[in-house]
Amino acid sequence: MTQVPPPMAMLAELTHRCPLSCPYCSNPLELEARSRELTTEQWLRVFREAADLGVLQLHLSGGEPATRRDLVDLVKGAREAGLYTNLITSGIGLTRARLDELDAAGLDHIQLSLQGMDAETADRIGGYRGGFERKMQVAGWIKDIGFPLTLNCVLHRQNLHQLPRAIEMAVEMGARRIEVAIVQFYGWAMLNRNALMPTREQAREAEMIVAEARERLKGTLVIDFVPADYHGDYPKRCMNGWGSVGLNITPEGTVLPCHAAQTIKHLEFWSVADRSLSEVWYDSPAFNAYRGTDWMKEPCRSCEHKLKDLGGCRCQALAISGDPAAADPVCVKSPDHGKLQEMAMQFSDGESDELTYRTPA
Ligand code: FES
Repeated sequence: MTQVPPPMAMLAELTHRCPLSCPYCSNPLELEARSRELTTEQWLRVFREAADLGVLQLHLSGGEPATRRDLVDLVKGAREAGLYTNLITSGIGLTRARLDELDAAGLDHIQLSLQGMDAETADRIGGYRGGFERKMQVAGWIKDIGFPLTLNCVLHRQNLHQLPRAIEMAVEMGARRIEVAIVQFYGWAMLNRNALMPTREQAREAEMIVAEARERLKGTLVIDFVPADYHGDYPKRCMNGWGSVGLNITPEGTVLPCHAAQTIKHLEFWSVADRSLSEVWYDSPAFNAYRGTDWMKEPCRSCEHKLKDLGGCRCQALAISGDPAAADPVCVKSPDHGKLQEMAMQFSDGESDELTYRTPA
């Protein structure tokens, strides 16, 4: 049997509570209540176990992690465990004083999300009036304190025209990196496909803008780009391979191979509330279900790309083909590739820009 390497990165969804209501939120449709969230002590135990297991990077996420009153203690505990800490935040709920405390606690890096590149767009998409202005203020404090910053922008039909401005803003804010991801259709985004699906032309143009900016800004800004996979011909290596380098923990402690894994209903997920993280990583049925290549069916099993993309995304295979062990329908070899392309055309032609917002927890 092939030996399973330890995970490198862990995403801790500290809470599902969030002041924003983004219509593409990657949290599940059924949000976890505050009363079920892991306590400070439980999280700190998990962070120590993660470090022992081999995890190097801890991404503190949500919801909005700043809604946790114990955020500073969590960062401090994670740093004491030896983890590199990255806070993934909308910026709402962070004050200058709190950022100073996070700095003193040892926070290594901040990833700030932008829903649009001007107040009108950002506040409408995030469903939070005044949010953009607040984020700009937070970005200024982040720069003053000197935290390494990554800007994080989810792009779709309603804000893709702002991609050049997003890249400019990252440079102006002194960010070292920008992550631009064309929206992935799971969870809430699935409910909004009509309003968010980019056109094929937009998807192609985004690729050209990114290629040009990467060349021009070499040495100044790193641009990570997740292209529009509904308009692609080969799938992405989702999560860098199921159970291969990363894991996600939900607010109440369920350990997932990816953020959408709970849509695969037959899988059995274990929780850090009653097992060690090491047990979950190596032995849980959910993590072993799609590890490596043994689970693959045709056309993946005999495909020359199978080690490159590892069959693509299991959650997308389920959502479109009805079978999580099928080839990701983004792939030209999938029998459902035509169906996916038709859906992409149909949704990108959607007349309405009306959004179904994520219900605040
Ligand atoms: Fe679950 Fe891609 S989101 S495998």
